[in-house]
Amino acid sequence: MAGESKLRAAVIGVGVGWNHIEGYQTHPQCELAAICDINEALLHERGERFNVPPERRFTDYRHVLASKEIDAVSIALPNWLHEPVAIEAFQHGKHVLMEKPLAHSVEAGERIIEAAKAAGKTLMVCYNHRYRPEIVWLKRLARAGEFGHIYAAKAGWLREGWIPTHGAWFTQKERAGGGALIDLGVHVLDLALWLMGYPQPISVSGAAFAEFGQRGQKTKPRHLKPERFDVDDSGFGFVRFADGAVLQFESAWATHREPQQDAYYVRLFGSEAGANFYSAAPNGETVALFKYVGDQPAAILPRLQSNVSGHRLAVHHFVDCCLSGQTPESPGEHGLIGLRIIDAIYRSAAERREVRCEA
Ligand SMILES: NC(=O)c1ccc[n+]([C@@H]2O[C@H](COP(=O)([O-])OP(=O)(O)OC[C@H]3O[C@@H](n4cnc5c(N)ncnc54)[C@H](O)[C@@H]3O)[C@@H](O)[C@H]2O)c1
Repeated sequence: MAGESKLRAAVIGVGVGWNHIEGYQTHPQCELAAICDINEALLHERGERFNVPPERRFTDYRHVLASKEIDAVSIALPNWLHEPVAIEAFQHGKHVLMEKPLAHSVEAGERIIEAAKAAGKTLMVCYNHRYRPEIVWLKRLARAGEFGHIYAAKAGWLREGWIPTHGAWFTQKERAGGGALIDLGVHVLDLALWLMGYPQPISVSGAAFAEFGQRGQKTKPRHLKPERFDVDDSGFGFVRFADGAVLQFESAWATHREPQQDAYYVRLFGSEAGANFYSAAPNGETVALFKYVGDQPAAILPRLQSNVSGHRLAVHHFVDCCLSGQTPESPGEHGLIGLRIIDAIYRSAAERREVRCEA
C-alpha cells in the first residue's frame, strides 16, 4: 500500500461510525467505497445523509471484507464484535481503524494485535479526543520538554446522568467488557498516558460501582431502561508506572452532581511546569499551562480554535498512515495498555487490594 495514491475505505457500523464516513469523504486521497450496518433503516438514513449510492450500502460485513475493491475498514461496532470482525478483516488484507475500546477484553485485544502483525497491516485505535486543539497544544509542549519530568497526572470523565441505553449491549458485561470505565475511562486514560509519554504501568488499585444502572436511574435516553445491567456505572483507579510516576483517574456515567454535567479533564504535574485541561458541556472548556516566569508562578492561557472534529482528524491520520506505511500515533498497543489498566481495576475492585498490571 505504501506509496499508493488513493485509499478505498469502508465503515462497518454506522452509529457513531457516521463520523468515519465524514472523515473518509473529506480526505482528498480517499474514496468511501462502502458503508455497512445490519440496521437497514439506519444504513439508508446515513446513506442518504452522506450521499452514499445504494449499491455501496451493505448489511453483511463479510461482503465488505471479501471485496477486493476495499483497502481499509473502520470498525464502529459494539465492543464484543471488534475482535471477530478485525481478525477477519486482517485475514482479507485490510487495514483497520478500530473505534475505542480496542476490544472487550485484554485477551481479545492481544489477538487483534497478533492478527494485524501477521497480516502486516495498519491497526489504529480511534482516540479522537487526542485531536482536540487543547490536547494537541499540550502534547506539543510535552514533546518539547516543557514539563520536565511528568511525575503525576489526574484525569477523569464524569457525567451526571448518561447510562447509554440506545444499544442494549452497553450495559452487559459479556458484550461491552465493562461499563463507564471501558466506555469513558479509556478515553481519558489515553489522554493522560499520551501526554505522559505512555509510561509502562506496573500496579493498579481501583474500585468500581453500580449504584444507578441496576435501579434504571440516570439512563440516556431516559425512557429506555436497561434489560440487563451487570457493569460499573462509575470507577476509580490509582496507577503506578515503572518510571515512578502515578496517575489517579475516575470515570462515571452516573453520579449525583451538577445536573446534566458531562465533563472531562486532565491535570499534569511536571517538575518544570503543570497544566490543566477541562472540558465541560455546556459550560465551556479551558486549558492552561502553569510555570515560573522569572521567579513568579504564572498561568499561560493559549488562544486556540478549531472547527474540525477530532474524529475527522483521527480518520485523516489513519488514511495518511495506510498510504505512507507510517505507524499511527495510536497503535493497537496503546489500546491494549488501556485495557490492561481497566482489567486491573476490575481485579483490584474484586480483591480489594492493589494488583500487578504488566504485559
Ligand atoms: N470515539 C468515540 O467518541 C465513541 C463514541 C461513541 C461510541 N464509540 C464506540 O463505537 C462503537 C459503536 O458505538 P455506538 O455508540 O455507535 O453503538 P451503537 O450500538 O449505537 O451502534 C453500533 C452499530 O453497529 C450495528 N451492528 C451491530 N451488529 C452488526 C453486525 N453484525 N454487522 C453490521 N452492523 C452491526 C448496529 O446496528 C448499530 O447501528 C463502540 O465500540 C463504542 O465504544 C466511540
